[in-house]
Amino acid sequence: MENRIKTITSSAQSLIASANSLESINDVRVKFLGKNGELTAVLKSMRDVPVEQKPMIGKFVNEARDSITAMIEEKITFLTADAINTKLQSESIDITLSTKKTKKGGLHPCSLVVNEILNIFTSLGFQVKQGPEVETDFYNFQALNIPLDHPAREMQDTFYINDELLLRTHTSPVQARTMMNTQPPIRIVNPGKVYRPDDDATHSPMFQQIEGLVVDKNITMCDLKGILETFAKTLFNEKTKTRLRPSFFPFTEPSVEIDVTCAVCGGKGCRICKGTGWIEILGAGIVNPKVLDNCGIDSSIYSGFAFGCGIERITMIKYGVPDMRILFDNDVRFLKQFN
Ligand code: DAH
Repeated sequence: MENRIKTITSSAQSLIASANSLESINDVRVKFLGKNGELTAVLKSMRDVPVEQKPMIGKFVNEARDSITAMIEEKITFLTADAINTKLQSESIDITLSTKKTKKGGLHPCSLVVNEILNIFTSLGFQVKQGPEVETDFYNFQALNIPLDHPAREMQDTFYINDELLLRTHTSPVQARTMMNTQPPIRIVNPGKVYRPDDDATHSPMFQQIEGLVVDKNITMCDLKGILETFAKTLFNEKTKTRLRPSFFPFTEPSVEIDVTCAVCGGKGCRICKGTGWIEILGAGIVNPKVLDNCGIDSSIYSGFAFGCGIERITMIKYGVPDMRILFDNDVRFLKQFN
């Protein structure tokens, strides 16, 4: 019996040593410790061993079983680690290889300027409103005190779609639309695209404007000046000065044009401000009482101020862009300077 156990142990030992896969080590386990395994058979035959030899033989068999089990487990641990290592090596990733850089997009400089202007006005309590780009003659002109056949229509050359419809020439129709369905107090800014048949270094057939409108009791030119000065100082810099020049717009009376000291040269005179030190940035004025009345607001109780400015123009001034057409070329070498 003892010899049989010794033979089994040494044969198990050599088979375990030569097993080179998890599959073959499992075969070894079945061969010796399985239900019909060689050592299991020895254990079963224990009942035939004479009583006085049982303790000794039993100890011997148990030791053999423990040692074979331990050898198998050790081999399994080794083979598992080995399999992982082989896999790791065959799938190794070269982390020193440089990756492809993904190019990040960014906002167009005009969008950056629109966002900045909206931030300034919303922080002053203005609401943002938008209106349609295909507009009726009524909202674009008539409600704003520009009747049919009025010479003021020549100030804004127009793309007509038919007698009634046109591509809006300015964002001012959003004023009229808002006043027609809102009673004062009104404080709005309206960004958006506008269209006119012009095309040169400082004009584009499509451009963007921002319109502003405030209507309430006792609104005066002082409110207009205060708000727009704050706007100019925040958008350009603290040192920016503003000046109001008398002007004419059918929808405001009196009307002004507002100049700011050139942000590029600080007022000394340069190419951007054509040597004058000043740059015109917007048109504005006290809302013509006729416009208030046209839009259902009682001009004997309320007054207001309005303004409109061109986004591309502001962008050109703010960043010193010499030709408006560069803003529409979408040349990434130009665009990536802003992000
Ligand atoms: N709509 C004018 C334009 O496009 C700009 C403008 C001037 C708007 C005076 C206003 C304003 O609201 O009061 O030239």
